[in-house]
Amino acid sequence: MAILKIARMGHPVLSRPAEPVADPTAPEIARLVDDMAETMDDIGGRGIAAPQVHVAKRVFIFRVPSDAAEAENGDWSGLEALVNPTVEPLGDERIEDWESCLSLPGLRGWVQRYARVRYRGTTPGGEAVERIAEGRLARTVQHEFDHLDGILYPMRMDDLSKLIFASELPHHGAAWVGRDRAVA
Ligand code: NI
Repeated sequence: MAILKIARMGHPVLSRPAEPVADPTAPEIARLVDDMAETMDDIGGRGIAAPQVHVAKRVFIFRVPSDAAEAENGDWSGLEALVNPTVEPLGDERIEDWESCLSLPGLRGWVQRYARVRYRGTTPGGEAVERIAEGRLARTVQHEFDHLDGILYPMRMDDLSKLIFASELPHHGAAWVGRDRAVA
């Protein structure tokens, strides 16, 4: 296991589509996922995509709560690792909330995301996964998937005046100051 260097906005690996993985069960993919998990946990993230560690492959991981109550309390513990994932919205409902990214350290943006999505993928163990995510977890899944297509969250924003440094959030009172937001 190793802690990997995280690419920051401006590095070309973050702005181009990542390549599909020919064999999700290849040992190099298991090793990559282990290193991504160690890197994510070291920095206190909830999710990370392979391009963020300079690997242009369609792999991302995220931490998941065991139930909705834990999600609201920020108590996420399980790990989901997906190779060649797909994400599709379920319904038209969208939710706006603060979002952050390990590749844009210190920043927060107000981003609209689908409230419910279905995601599919293959685990490094070769298991086919199909699950539904809602709320903050759905936001994380959409954020990570975007990384595989070279999209960073500011590119999803309608109002760039709400791209700010997290340290300035307190100037905006209760309306802008939320709980700790997922870093991905
Ligand atoms: Ni990110």
